[in-house]
This record gives sequence, structure tokens and C-alpha cells, in this order.
Amino acid sequence: MEDSVVVITGGHGGIGRVVVEYLLGKGAKVVVLDVNDTTSSKLKLNKNYTFIKTDVTNIKELQNAHEIIKDKFNHINHLISMAGINMKSEINGIKGITFEDIDKSIKLNLNAHIYLVKTMLDLIEITNSDNKSIIMISSINAITRYGLPAYSAAKSGIYGFMKSILNEVGKSNIRVNTISLGTVPHMDQDIEGDEYFENYKNHLAIKSFVRPTDVADTIYSMLGLSKCINGQNIVLDMGQSV
Ligand SMILES: NC(=O)c1ccc[n+]([C@@H]2O[C@H](COP(=O)([O-])OP(=O)(O)OC[C@H]3O[C@@H](n4cnc5c(N)ncnc54)[C@H](O)[C@@H]3O)[C@@H](O)[C@H]2O)c1
Repeated sequence: MEDSVVVITGGHGGIGRVVVEYLLGKGAKVVVLDVNDTTSSKLKLNKNYTFIKTDVTNIKELQNAHEIIKDKFNHINHLISMAGINMKSEINGIKGITFEDIDKSIKLNLNAHIYLVKTMLDLIEITNSDNKSIIMISSINAITRYGLPAYSAAKSGIYGFMKSILNEVGKSNIRVNTISLGTVPHMDQDIEGDEYFENYKNHLAIKSFVRPTDVADTIYSMLGLSKCINGQNIVLDMGQSV
């Protein structure tokens, strides 16, 4: 991991920022692409942290990020596509979701992952290393029945996309996997006694949630140690989806 260049989208989010700090702690050079430019002063001071304000649904902004990364690092070892959110109106199911939110959700939760890989692929291909990978963050909504129609369709789509590029990127020794997350309360969320989280807890085989630090552990292991994992959807959910 020392000196590897890791590009992560959504790296200023509740899960992303923990993953970013974890990878920086392991010596990686981490490039965050996010629309949100607020982050901790600790991160800003880290010489291995780079931020490029980028809307990942905007192809021109992704191409601009590509040029900045190319100029600064010339290559990418690992690409983590994490930016994603569900739209408010889809909480009320297919009857409630607005057409506008269907388009917005698919654009961010599916198209943006494809745009990102297409835009950045040449920088991973030229990397002179036998350890190169792409991880895209999906959700157990892709594999079970938690509603959120457009979000769930998009998160399933990521898995199909991952399989479709496996052989193509494999020619350049690039591994590609998805991670399907169950409910992951952020580090700053007070979950004890909270009705929303208590409800989800009932679905867990082991009554404790996956936390962002667990996601960071898994990502680190998939990037650095588990070099035989390829073409897989890794489910991190404490048995929630079973
Ligand atoms: N937290 C959970 O319970 C949970 C469960 C399953 C899957 N996930 C997935 O994990 C990933 C991270 O979730 P989170 O909980 O950290 O969410 P979050 O909302 O805290 O973070 C999302 C990040 O993505 C960024 N983002 C949103 N739109 C963007 C855009 N157009 N361009 C660039 N950046 C954009 C946001 O600014 C934010 O920093 C998401 O893909 C989410 O779907 C989360």
C-alpha cells in the first residue's frame, strides 16, 4: 500500500472519510473526488491527501480530474467508486418516486460508476504493478427486498457492469469487485435506542452493525492482501440480507 495511488469517489462521506483516513494511515497516496469540499483540517494537512472537487455524474469534470491525476501521479493503482445516495422520494416506493428522482438516482448510482471506470481506466492500465484493482460500492438493496426502486436497480446494475468488464480489464491484470453493504451507521451517529436503527437491528443475525471502520478494513484487505478475489460481490452486512 505504501506509495500506491488510490482514487476514491465519495471520500468525504460518512463511510468514505474513514476509508480515506485508514488508507492514508497505511501510507497510500489518496485522491478524493467529491462534490462536497468540506473535510477535516487533519486531512488537509496530510501531504498524501489530494482533493479534486468533482461531480461524478459530469463527464467533463471527470475528464478534468483525470488530467489532474495524470499530471500529478501519472498512474492509479486502485480505484474505489463509492459516491452514491438514495433519493428522498423513493422511500415511498415505486408509487412515490418521481420521474426526476429515477433519472437522478440511476445517473449517480449506476452511470457515474461506469463513467468513472471508463475515464480512469488508462491510468490503471499503465501502472507497472501486479496489484491493481477497481472496487465499486453496492448495497444489499441489490440482492434483497428493501424497497428504494431506482437505487436498488442501480446497485444491481453495478454488479452486472463489474462482470461485463472482468475479462477486458483482466488483460491488464486489473481485478474488479463490488462490495454490497448492509446498514452502516456512520461513526458520529448515535444508534443506541434510535428507532430507525433498532428496526434494522432486528434483521441482523449478529446484533451489531457494520461500521465504516469495518468497511475500511475490508477494502484495505481487498486492495493489499486478498489478491485472488476477482469478479466477486463481497457482502458486508452481519447476515442482514439472508
Ligand atoms: N451507509 C449505509 O448504510 C449504506 C448502506 C449500503 C450502501 N451504502 C453505500 O455506501 C456508499 C457511501 O455511503 P455513505 O453512507 O458514506 O453516504 P454519504 O451520503 O455519507 O456519502 C456520500 C458521499 O458521496 C458524495 N457525492 C454525492 N453525490 C456526488 C456526486 N454527484 N459527485 C461526487 N460525489 C458525490 C457526497 O458528497 C458524500 O461525500 C454509497 O454508495 C452508498 O450507497 C451505504
